[in-house]
Amino acid sequence: TTETFAYEPSDQVQTVAHRGASGYAPENTMAAFQKGVDMKADYIEIDVQQTKDGELVVIHDVTLDRTTDGTGYIKDHTLEQIRQLDAGSYFGEEFAGEKVPTFEEVLDEFRGKTGILIELKATYYYPGIEEKVASALKERNMHLPAHEKIIIQSFEFDSMQRMDKLLPEVPVGVLTSRATDLSEAKLSEFSTYAEYVNPSRLLVNSSVVDEVHERNMGIMAWTVRNEQEVQPLLDAGVDGIITDYPDYAPLHKAE
Ligand code: G3P
Ligand code: CA
Repeated sequence: TTETFAYEPSDQVQTVAHRGASGYAPENTMAAFQKGVDMKADYIEIDVQQTKDGELVVIHDVTLDRTTDGTGYIKDHTLEQIRQLDAGSYFGEEFAGEKVPTFEEVLDEFRGKTGILIELKATYYYPGIEEKVASALKERNMHLPAHEKIIIQSFEFDSMQRMDKLLPEVPVGVLTSRATDLSEAKLSEFSTYAEYVNPSRLLVNSSVVDEVHERNMGIMAWTVRNEQEVQPLLDAGVDGIITDYPDYAPLHKAE
């Protein structure tokens, strides 16, 4: 929250592996997250949703159809059912057998190895998901920024206001693909609870970056899927680049 946590500018742009290094491995799987770490991403980005029996899982779409061999809504399936599915084959046979990870599995495997940018997806389907996310982080002492690099973000602003109250020391971000969310009035409103404004890269230019920074928030742009898209974002002054390809040359840092 703005009282206990302030966004701190860094000289180095943060590279975020979007759904893991999802250009190289099936998105939101342990394989993709590990590739993100291997490529030295500063953060992995994960999409969190909730099963019928109230367990937190990491998957992007609200349905199973595109990335697994199952069908139907996540919210209509139990964790046991979802864990039986193959979340790798859609991307390539060499990834057959990859599972839909649980949120806790990702925290336990990757804490300390990379930052974790946690997106809460479709929270209108999952009342109480904010409390569950908060508990999982607190149980592991991961809710204190001194311990871990964690950011929580969502397109659902009410959910982020709630998250800010539940975990005042964890930075939260608002996601948007609407230009109207980048008005001065909207940015000022976001700054009452958020530390990041993370827009589609198509909305980013240096004046947007300056407006966000003036309100003591950071800005991460998504989703970079072409190397040519990197430099204009660096020139605009963003703090982070969310990409399927965290190994793009313009993102390499000096050793
Ligand atoms: O991290 C931002 C980006 O992931 C938002 O869009 O649809 O890829 O979750 P989406
Ligand atoms: Ca996402």
